[in-house]
Order: sequence, then C-alpha cells, then structure tokens
Amino acid sequence: MNEERLEAGFVGAGNMGLALIAGLVRSGVRPEAIGFAEPDAERAAAVRAQFPGLVLLGPRQLAGRARTLVLAVKPQMLPELAADLAAEVTAADPLVVSVAAGIGTGRLGGWLGPETRIVRAMPNTPALIGAGITGLYASPLATEADRKTADRLLGAVGATVWLQDEEQMHAVTATSGSGPAYVFLLIEAMTRAAQRLGLDEATARRLTLATVGGATQLAQESGADPAELRARVTSPGGTTERAITVFEESGLAELVAEAMAAAAARSRELGG
Ligand SMILES: NC(=O)c1ccc[n+]([C@@H]2O[C@H](COP(=O)([O-])OP(=O)(O)OC[C@H]3O[C@@H](n4cnc5c(N)ncnc54)[C@H](OP(=O)(O)O)[C@@H]3O)[C@@H](O)[C@H]2O)c1
Repeated sequence: MNEERLEAGFVGAGNMGLALIAGLVRSGVRPEAIGFAEPDAERAAAVRAQFPGLVLLGPRQLAGRARTLVLAVKPQMLPELAADLAAEVTAADPLVVSVAAGIGTGRLGGWLGPETRIVRAMPNTPALIGAGITGLYASPLATEADRKTADRLLGAVGATVWLQDEEQMHAVTATSGSGPAYVFLLIEAMTRAAQRLGLDEATARRLTLATVGGATQLAQESGADPAELRARVTSPGGTTERAITVFEESGLAELVAEAMAAAAARSRELGG
C-alpha cells in the first residue's frame, strides 16, 4: 500500500455519514484525510461540493486505506456489504465503527472476520446539528486507543456515553436513539393544544419550542432532580398542579414506560 492512509473512511454518506463527516471537518480533520464511498454518483458529487478535497473511493478501496472505517449504511445493506469488505478489513486491520441500528458486534465480526476491532455506536438525529448523544460499545478486541478514536469521532457531533454491556444498546436505542421522535410528538401535541386554547400556530409553536428547550436547559444547568424542579413550579391549588393531576391520573409515566419497552423489544427483534 503506497497511498497515504486515510484518517477515516465512510461507507455510506447519508444522513448519519454526512453528519459525522461534517463533525470531523469542524473538529479540524483535513477533508483530504477523509474518504467516503457512495453508490449514487449525483449524491457523491454533492458531498464533494460540500466538502472539497474529500476522497471518493469504492467501499473495498476505502476498507484498505482507512485507519477507521465507519459503516453508515442502512442495517439491511450491512450483511452483504460487510461480507464484501472482509478480505480488505482482515488485511488492512482498520478500526471498524458501525452506526447500524440493531446489529451486534458478534454478527459484524462474523461477517468481517473474527479479529476485527469493532466499536458499535447508536447516535441520534440531533447529531445533524452537533447536538446529538451517542451510546458506544467496544467489542473485547478493541483497544483503549480505539475507544479514544471512536469517542473523538462521535464526540464531534455531540456527547458520548460508554456502555459496559452490549445488551444495554437496546435501552439506549429506546431512550436516546428513538427519543427525539417522542419529544417531537410532545411538541406537536402541545402546539395543537395551545391552538385549541386560542393561539395562532406560529405563536403556539414558538412558545412550545422555547419551553421544551428552556426546561431542558434549566434541568441540565441546575443539576437538580427534575421532580424537584417540577415541585418548585407546582404551587398547591395552582394551574400547573391541575395539569399534572390530569397527566398522572391518565397514567403518563406508565404509558412512556410501555412505549419505550416496545421500542427496546423491536430493537431486539431487528438485532436477530
Ligand atoms: N438517522 C438516524 O437518526 C440514525 C440514528 C442511529 C443510527 N442510525 C443508523 O445509521 C445508519 C445510516 O442511516 P442514515 O439515516 O444515515 O441512512 P441513509 O441516509 O439512507 O444513508 C445511507 C447511505 O449509505 C449509502 N449506501 C448504501 N449502500 C451502500 C454501499 N454498498 N456502499 C456505499 N454506500 C452505500 C446510501 O446510498 P443510496 O441512497 O444511494 O443507497 C446512503 O447514502 C443506519 O444503519 C441507521 O440504523 C441512524
């Protein structure tokens, strides 16, 4: 191999691939040190226009040249793709970082080769604006340096949390992976309810978004228990108390628990 090794290579430059590329470039990695594979020529050209200098290669060439190979294709593409990359991965020995939902390191290692160092990542969509959070799990063969590399990669698009047990990935998927959609659902419901109470849509949305964002920020910055923060704004006999009573009597907490258990169960099913 006489070509320069690439810092990172992305197989798949879709939503997640692109968010991670953008994060790396923002964190100071030269585009010339980042490779990507993308079968759609038009999309590949658009990616290169967005990040001039990025190296476009076929997936196998990428596997042979990247120090860190990031698998960012849809999970259903992965079995075939990984088997196709096995020879190059075995020969060049990159760290493999997979963001594919549900696919365990055991199965990945089975396709790529038993010696492969793998870190599995479950990011979420706020990564697109650098405000994500990613659950990470390193397979036993991954080294401390591999963990640092993966942490830097995913850390470029938000916070990171390391898990000791791969089984916990299902809980992470049900919490932060799918979680943005739960919050969007709440935002939709609050906005509609505010309109029903007499506000126009723009005002209703503005009030709701600022409230969800502001309350989250307050909970984060104060470090106080959310139950305590809630108690502070719930005066006896007041308006908030009346609303909270409706939520509690309708079993909101149980409903959330049931929904998240369903997401975790689906994650297990998809993992096969
Ligand atoms: N989006 C999320 O919030 C999120 C969160 C956590 C995990 N993930 C995981 O991230 C992965 C990617 O999701 P995404 O939302 O980024 O999907 P996406 O937007 O569909 O991106 C996948 C990209 O990979 C390309 N691709 C497919 N087969 C390929 C191949 N053989 N070689 C090279 N490139 C190939 C696709 O190209 P074509 O379009 O031309 O097929 C597409 O550009 C998934 O495994 C998903 O589970 C996503």
